[in-house]
Amino acid sequence: MDIPWWRDAVVYEIYVRSFADASGDGVGDLAGVRERLPYLARLGVDAVWLTPFYPSPMADGGYDVADYRDVDPLFGTLADFESLVSDAHRLGLKVLVDIVPNHSSSEHPWFQAALRGEKRERYIFRDKTNNWQSTFSGPAWTKVADGQSYLHLFAPGQPDFNWRNPEVHREFLDILRFWLDRGVDGFRIDVAMGLYKAEGLPDVGDQSFKAVSPVWGQPEVHEVYREWRKVLDGYPGERMAVGEVWTDSSEDLALYLRPDELHQSFNFAWLQAPWSPTAFRKVIEDTLAAVPFATWVLSNHDVVRHRTRYETADPGTGLARSRAALLTMLALPGSAYLYQGEELGLPEVTDLPDEARQDPVFLQSQGKLPGRDGCRVPIPWTVDPPSHGFSPGGVEPWLPQPATFAELSVEKQEGDSDSTLEFYRQALACRRDLARSIPYTLEWLKSPEGALFFTRGSLICAVNCGPKSVRLPEHDSVLLSSGPIKRGLLPPDTAVWLRRES
Ligand code: NOJ
Repeated sequence: MDIPWWRDAVVYEIYVRSFADASGDGVGDLAGVRERLPYLARLGVDAVWLTPFYPSPMADGGYDVADYRDVDPLFGTLADFESLVSDAHRLGLKVLVDIVPNHSSSEHPWFQAALRGEKRERYIFRDKTNNWQSTFSGPAWTKVADGQSYLHLFAPGQPDFNWRNPEVHREFLDILRFWLDRGVDGFRIDVAMGLYKAEGLPDVGDQSFKAVSPVWGQPEVHEVYREWRKVLDGYPGERMAVGEVWTDSSEDLALYLRPDELHQSFNFAWLQAPWSPTAFRKVIEDTLAAVPFATWVLSNHDVVRHRTRYETADPGTGLARSRAALLTMLALPGSAYLYQGEELGLPEVTDLPDEARQDPVFLQSQGKLPGRDGCRVPIPWTVDPPSHGFSPGGVEPWLPQPATFAELSVEKQEGDSDSTLEFYRQALACRRDLARSIPYTLEWLKSPEGALFFTRGSLICAVNCGPKSVRLPEHDSVLLSSGPIKRGLLPPDTAVWLRRES
């Protein structure tokens, strides 16, 4: 069998609002992405994933879609999208778009009609509600004028669709075709495990309901992906889908990856693992045992950036560990998802002023939860404020960037061989050379305490999570390391790729 392009692909997530602003309104847009495609090709990724750019009131940064077949004027036009796709393809980059099937915006014409009492069965309206809570905090139900309430697992501006209604199925099959006809190479599926809710909407904790959760992962959801897979397979060029599936186990995750369902799913267990060789090994073993095609991810627009997650009282640890984690991740069989800005070593911005924060998690929790704005601060392209090259001229970006972003900018790091940007470029180039020449399978090597060593054909990867240097495994040459290595020793918080000839 030919190896599909996505099996070993490195996919770069573009949070469109925060990547590059060409129009000069302080918000990133499609023309901004298009201008920066050569940067991404040079970085060495295989594909980009664009977060939602559809018309939206932006109650949740665009994950509240009012029209699934257009571009919000904030982000450009359909023509801009088409130019972006054709430039990306010319540069050898695939394009994935985000599809949001669990809920629409409350501004969507279907929901507006439902408010008028028309075709309410496209959403989930009830006279009597249950005890479900919104993921963003507060109740998952909002009352409308005539006394009924509708379900929203996220913000009130994101009413959940009723997937027990065949019209919803037909609508999304048509939306998929709309974007496939415009040349997209695949989809990232938002809240992929959430579409169906348990029949009767039992309370969470209801003892008479036998499954783990009445909210997530209902068995009927798999039928949706079987329908979608048929559509994808009907197009030329290995179109694919990756699900945002949060599950408690790799076995549950694997259900979504059956041969007639999704091609890939995010593997959040990797992102959630602490800095520990045993935790890493367990996630790797469980994943490879359960799923046919693995993926790995360290950061995205919903979680604290991994440089900050890995930080300890010892300054510098976060960056050292994040570089080592990248090298480890890129050595694993399967595909890797990167989040914009991690190649610059961006930290989470933890001190955003409350007035600047826009995430509904912050707003709905009345400021009790910081929310996700800290990982969505616009990318610093150049050294100079006010926007570090994110917007043209003297425009302020939609979220303020800290002064420390100057040192982390692309301009500052480009050409500096010690920089994180150049390290990412080297790692991705080296991986591209290796990916198809080494076996998909992995073997463990005996590892000293605190470290993890594994091999795939001629490649050996060693990562040291412990407090003391460890001796490198036997090798013929050093390909790349995430930090300095000396006299055959691997220092703490460092990873290395080694070559072994036989
Ligand atoms: C997951 C998305 O990644 C997140 O940003 C969004 O808030 C929720 N789904 C709801 O759409």
